[in-house]
Amino acid sequence: MRPEPLLSVRNLSIEFNTERGVVRAVDDVSFDVAPGETLGVVGESGCGKTVTALALMRLIPSPPGRVVSGSIRLAGRDILAMSEKDMRDIRGSEVSMIFQEPMTALNPVFTIGNQMIDVIRRHEALDRKSAKQRALEMLERVGIPIPDKRISEYPHELSGGMRQRVMIAMALSCGPKLLIADEPTTALDVTTQAQVMEQIVKLQEDFGMAVMLITHDLGVIAESCRRALVMYCGQMIEDAAIEQLFAQPQHPYTQGLLRSIPRIREQKLESLPVIEGTVPDLLHLPAGCRFADRCPRATTDCHESQPPLVAREQARVACFHPGLQDHA
Ligand SMILES: Nc1ncnc2c1ncn2[C@@H]1O[C@H](COP(=O)(O)OP(=O)(O)OP(=O)(O)O)[C@@H](O)[C@H]1O
Ligand SMILES: [Mg+2]
Repeated sequence: MRPEPLLSVRNLSIEFNTERGVVRAVDDVSFDVAPGETLGVVGESGCGKTVTALALMRLIPSPPGRVVSGSIRLAGRDILAMSEKDMRDIRGSEVSMIFQEPMTALNPVFTIGNQMIDVIRRHEALDRKSAKQRALEMLERVGIPIPDKRISEYPHELSGGMRQRVMIAMALSCGPKLLIADEPTTALDVTTQAQVMEQIVKLQEDFGMAVMLITHDLGVIAESCRRALVMYCGQMIEDAAIEQLFAQPQHPYTQGLLRSIPRIREQKLESLPVIEGTVPDLLHLPAGCRFADRCPRATTDCHESQPPLVAREQARVACFHPGLQDHA
């Protein structure tokens, strides 16, 4: 039997008012995260990954955005029904988020130490000295050299990689049950990316929290996640264990994504097949499957109605013609 999920999202839909009309950025998304699980979320730019994550923290900017339907339960609590005060208590202590660009989350006018101590004392009854001690320990654990010097520096004095580590230290300082990492390494150079990812995986093992890792990069998902969700144009189109997703992707979009991962064969970087066509405009969505116009397997059905997300071989897939790939 599967353990009780830590996070349970059901039929979540989120809309934004824009100058051009109402855009449904997330459409009827449902998924669970088990305690301690590492779940990847992958999909092209604009498919709704960040908006989904922000909804879990109840940080959708409103206006223009709002959750129009669905439910989010975290550790047995109904996130969408909570008061703002209770929500503030939960952010940081139950669920934390790290963002792509740490400068947007760090305050430039306070030292790293002051910001960390603030976060820790907001959630825990610690005096300043003990909170500082905790902050130092966390900085050390995320691999910041000479933490007692760094702690009194300002964000601009640190490199991008160090800032991202500080964000991670801050996000983990109150032992959240769920860490949402939204493209945590895209702003960093390749070597630093690998180091920061390694650190996240290690901390996940040490602290036993669940991690929801959002990224464009299927390679990163392959290395760090047990399961992944694939999103396309606001919807979830595939949900599978990593081995299965890579060995037997079911959705033609997932298959296309996998084919576009760089591979080195006979010491030559192969030219990468790309998925032809473009993602439909959220304001002018087709009646049927949103991927149909780009799909090699689309039939009349696919253009006329939307395939529901259904269980198939221990995965879930939203496709009328799932399964074997057409060609390698
Ligand atoms: N503040 C906003 N106002 C209006 N529309 C928004 C806003 N934020 C998001 N959206 C809409 O939601 C869609 C999904 O955005 P989201 O940021 O979740 O994409 P993403 O999958 O995280 O993309 P990326 O990989 O580029 O980060 C966007 O295409 C946009 O139409
Ligand atoms: Mg995003």
